[in-house]
Amino acid sequence: MARITAGVGCSHVPAIGVAMDTKNTQAPYWKPCFAGFEKSRKWMKEANADVIFLVYNDHCTAFDASCIPTFALGCAAEFHPADEGWGPRPVPVVKNHQKMASHIAQSLILDEFDITIMNEMEVDHGLTVPLSLMFGEHGVDDEWPALVIPLCVNVVQYPAPTGNRCYNLGKAIRLAVESYDEDLNVVIFGTGGMSHQLQYKRAGLINSEWDAEFLDRLTSDPVGLSQMPHVEYLREAGSEGVEMVMWHVMRGSLDDEVREVHRHYHVPASNTAVGHIILENKSS
Ligand code: DHB
Ligand code: FE
Repeated sequence: MARITAGVGCSHVPAIGVAMDTKNTQAPYWKPCFAGFEKSRKWMKEANADVIFLVYNDHCTAFDASCIPTFALGCAAEFHPADEGWGPRPVPVVKNHQKMASHIAQSLILDEFDITIMNEMEVDHGLTVPLSLMFGEHGVDDEWPALVIPLCVNVVQYPAPTGNRCYNLGKAIRLAVESYDEDLNVVIFGTGGMSHQLQYKRAGLINSEWDAEFLDRLTSDPVGLSQMPHVEYLREAGSEGVEMVMWHVMRGSLDDEVREVHRHYHVPASNTAVGHIILENKSS
């Protein structure tokens, strides 16, 4: 059977992708940010994942205001990087495990999660930047080292799903994966955050104390953490801090008890606090 062996939490700041694509990662501004991912890339290689289940949000790239699904599962054979204004990122096309994605869609919907099925979808920095951070440099003619099943969560227009809903969706994803009859090693990514606000009077807001507590509680108190109301993300972590609800999907899909094997936190990166964590299932 397929199994989720570990979870990765990771910010998805678009400027990180630009720094990698323009070979600027060793510039004084970026060096300490990327240094924290050296161990992660080694870990990722050793983890030897067959499939990455990647929870992210679209930033009005694949969807515009005319249609905003709460949860959209990528079921296409592949996903091309979108043009976000500077041309598509020069990274490989993202290849799906289509059979497993279809199985997960069926399992989730019959488990009463009303998932939108995406048979065509372009992917933006929300998905490609965490892949680049964890897998390192890969050019357009390369392949990503693993297949990727994307799950897109609406955190762009209220109402976004609650942390509780996301945590329970994680549990349902685990059941879906474990009922897939092929020995596959699945690593789940929860992306976005940490604290940041991109607009209006509090633009530039970072709350490092809140971010640290969030990372601590991910291991020690995941259920309590998932109960945090949207207004607290907004107040404490800025208007875009609500991206953090996607980390609950990742955490909900893991064992109750996990091992934190790596953590990295860095400010500044563009307008955002970069946060990263690797959690291994104790059972794996
Ligand atoms: C920034 C961060 C994001 O999460 C995003 O989607 C866009 C921009 C930033 O910090 O610049
Ligand atoms: Fe974002």
